Amino acid sequence: MSNITLLRVGSFWGYNRANNTISIEYIVSNTLRLLHVTDLHLGNNKGDCLSSIDCDESLNQVIEQLKNERYDALLITGDIANHGAKSAYLRLQVYLSEIKMPVYMLPGNHDDKALMQQVFGELNNKIELGAWNLIFLDSNDGKHYHGQLSVNELDFLEGALKQSEGRHTLIALHHPPVDIGSAWMDAMQLKNKQAFFDIIDCFESPRAVVWGHIHQEFDQYRRGVRLLSSPSTCSQFLPQSAQHQKDTQAAGYRWLELNADGSLDTGVIRVTG
Ligand SMILES: [Fe+2]
Repeated sequence: MSNITLLRVGSFWGYNRANNTISIEYIVSNTLRLLHVTDLHLGNNKGDCLSSIDCDESLNQVIEQLKNERYDALLITGDIANHGAKSAYLRLQVYLSEIKMPVYMLPGNHDDKALMQQVFGELNNKIELGAWNLIFLDSNDGKHYHGQLSVNELDFLEGALKQSEGRHTLIALHHPPVDIGSAWMDAMQLKNKQAFFDIIDCFESPRAVVWGHIHQEFDQYRRGVRLLSSPSTCSQFLPQSAQHQKDTQAAGYRWLELNADGSLDTGVIRVTG
């Protein structure tokens, strides 16, 4: 008997012949395509502004730009509501109805997680998509601006990474776990970042960490793990500034292509017009 190995690569089927057995093999080579938006800062009322920018209008410009894109999921890393108001989550729910892809979200320091869950249901903290696991952490420390992962969140991260052996992982949270070079923002980063990296460093699967909070793009590597942040969908902060300083760049979002071999491609898109 000839051996026929069927290979599915992307959407194409092919076959190889070898040896003396028949086998069917499904090779997941599809790339997982994600969109990352963050720091929406929707006010209590439609039209409320942050740094003179109408956050609803700005978000809807972003949505208008990405709504016809073919992506597998949209990830929102917090600061959805500027004052944690249920009215802001309800408006976001309406805006997201324009988007035909699954949406996953986690809370930022401006959010009210309980109200988020009232509107959107229980928030996912781990998703398996293709060859990747996506892990979502709550890095909020009460009402503080800085971040802190609780013992429960650290235990959850460690357990999720143990279960992710053999897969690739992307970890998302709100607060930056590294210095970004802006003193005022670095004072609001993840306080127990060492505990975070002590866990990550024990595993092979982490490929990327993605966050919000800093209202600017960031792209560096740490020990082979890509560290990424994205622009806010409303106001931007000027990189490398000691104190709060507004950046004139447009609102934006990030695209990510997570490949089955663990590599990834990514870039930032700013809204135009
Ligand atoms: Fe923010």
